[in-house]
Amino acid sequence: MPTQRKILVTSALPYANGPIHLGHLLEYIQTDIWTRFQKSRGNTCTYVCADDAHGTAIMLRAEQEGITSQQLIDRVRQEHHQDFQDFHIRFDNYYSTHSDENRYFSELIYTRLRDKGHIATREIEQMYDPEKGLFLADRFIKGTCPKCKAEDQYGDNCEKCGATYTPAELIDPRSAISGATPVMKSSEHYFFKLQDFTDFLQDWTQTGRLQEQIANKLKEWLDAGLQEWDISRDAPYFGFEIPDAPGKYFYVWLDAPIGYLASFKNLCEQRDDLDFDDYWKADSQNEVYHFIGKDIVNFHALFWPAMLSGADFRTPNSVYCHGFVTVNGAKMSKSRGTFIKARTYLDHLNPEYLRYYFAAKLTGRVDDLDLNLEDFVFRVNSDLVGKLVNIASRCAGFVKKAGGTLSEMKEPELYQRFVAAEEAIAADYERREYGRAVRQIMDLADEANTWINDQQPWVLAKEEGKGDEVQAICSTGINLFRVLMTYLAPVLPEMAEKTLAFLKIDALDWAGIQQPLVGHEIAKFKPMISRVDKDTIEALLEASREDAKKEMALKEASVSSNPGGEQGPLQADPLAEEISFDDFIKVDLRIARITRCEHVEKANKLLKLTLDLGGETRTVFSGIKKAYQPEDLEGKLTVLVANLAPRKMKFGVSEGMVLAAGDDDGIYLLEPHEGAKPGMRVV
Ligand code: MSP
Ligand code: ZN
Repeated sequence: MPTQRKILVTSALPYANGPIHLGHLLEYIQTDIWTRFQKSRGNTCTYVCADDAHGTAIMLRAEQEGITSQQLIDRVRQEHHQDFQDFHIRFDNYYSTHSDENRYFSELIYTRLRDKGHIATREIEQMYDPEKGLFLADRFIKGTCPKCKAEDQYGDNCEKCGATYTPAELIDPRSAISGATPVMKSSEHYFFKLQDFTDFLQDWTQTGRLQEQIANKLKEWLDAGLQEWDISRDAPYFGFEIPDAPGKYFYVWLDAPIGYLASFKNLCEQRDDLDFDDYWKADSQNEVYHFIGKDIVNFHALFWPAMLSGADFRTPNSVYCHGFVTVNGAKMSKSRGTFIKARTYLDHLNPEYLRYYFAAKLTGRVDDLDLNLEDFVFRVNSDLVGKLVNIASRCAGFVKKAGGTLSEMKEPELYQRFVAAEEAIAADYERREYGRAVRQIMDLADEANTWINDQQPWVLAKEEGKGDEVQAICSTGINLFRVLMTYLAPVLPEMAEKTLAFLKIDALDWAGIQQPLVGHEIAKFKPMISRVDKDTIEALLEASREDAKKEMALKEASVSSNPGGEQGPLQADPLAEEISFDDFIKVDLRIARITRCEHVEKANKLLKLTLDLGGETRTVFSGIKKAYQPEDLEGKLTVLVANLAPRKMKFGVSEGMVLAAGDDDGIYLLEPHEGAKPGMRVV
């Protein structure tokens, strides 16, 4: 018996400002399989996680929903936790970074680093939103690209021409939050002197503990030279105030990984068998692993080990990094319906399908993983239903008919060969080569099915005096099934549960397969999983498109209460669904004459139109400024949505909407043919 290992495992802490989606799930499923595997092998393995609750994005999201940050993070943590549970992700603790433990460890690590001289302060200049009273991170600044002049580009790079620049170089910059023109403002910031840890990190990253692709990337960064890391943010900020610096807060990424310690500490308080120091003191011999995505390597393999080592804690044994999920070969897309939320998936499909599919495609490398939906249906049906469950279903009936008790096996050597595969399969799980493990297991399933086919118990069953042989064949089949389900139990925990009931045993752990079940009664067979239906996939995509629409509606609604987020006139809507004539006729379209057209002070996109509807006068704000000079529109006819609910904007109430065509190239107001009169109905 190998000595028992003591292992602590984490997954990255999901942000509390959005729902869990299938991309996230790759990571939590990958980690969960690994921890279940370790437990099945008899190791002590503890899996902790938490919501990442701090930062500007969470503050703004709460504002958008009209609730406090605390209310938002409480609700979202609940939702995240439920999603994970329903995907059978079995955390030992799911905590929050907005917790006393996390404040304690953040302050402790910070003060230790400060006392050793690893913290510096200096003034920096940054863009500031004078209306909101907020310093603006680059992604909250928009403006015109200084190079190609494309409008509406983010503060650090242009999506049109790929240029990179500083927000100060943007033409006509504005705050994406309020629409105000930002000003430069200076304030004091706190920095972690990462460069003090250059030698330590050279060694830590380059001595075989990390994946090769990751070690190489880190070497590039190290060779380029490490920089100080800005760890403070000015109020208002949702986070922890820095102890010796009133009004300054820890940047969310400082306290986020410390959340691993906090969640584990919180668990230790509840459990007698776990001791915090036993895992985290500098010379701990227990193992610690972080599972993360490739986008957050620098935080986990540079800043984090440096912080830990500088504050006299142990560092992780490794950081296990995975690639990104794509769906049908492309980035997850809201309009295609492939941006699939965990909850929406669960409303339509069995979570074990996804667990199996991800496992079947996962490697120990950092490559992206494509969820091809056609392949998904095929694999699940062919492997889980067609191969695996089939073994049990074709043998169980005969065993039951003969009394329901398993007899001696007809071919114990075959059973032994299945058991002998355990080391190779375990080695693949350990290295996170789940795809290879699954292939080996499915090859064995094929072998079992072929053997049963050759034995033809259904033919023998019709012959006189062959009852014992039939029983011996089918008892072999059921025992082979048990071995395969033991190997797959980390991937398919619910099927494993059902297998326990079928086989009337209380565990499917690795050690159990040494002993076959002989003279053992089993229960009536019920299939442990059913086929995926193609139509369900369609329904899932449709529901995901609906989700995206609802999300857009929320953004829209927050635009009217926050007109700074004003949008173009008509964002081409890729989500438009079919409507009935009755739906259409509800829209009251009227010809209107533009009698006045004016600039709106401080608005980047809007013109103010005064419209004559043949007697009635309306005021409408329209986002067509970039396409027209006001004087060019006066006197022209256009089409108005006359029964649109009035919308309160920062600059006044907009009583309807004028119709324009538009895309990235331009905006074109609609104008009727000669002869139309103000007030005419348009149908
Ligand atoms: N809050 C940070 C992590 C802090 S850890 C101390 C964060 N949160 S996240 O919600 O954006 O992402 C959580 C994890 O999910 C990350 O490891 C990230 O790489 C992973 N994924 C998010 N989208 C993903 C895909 N589309 N595909 C695979 N993994 C993805 O980052
Ligand atoms: Zn550009």
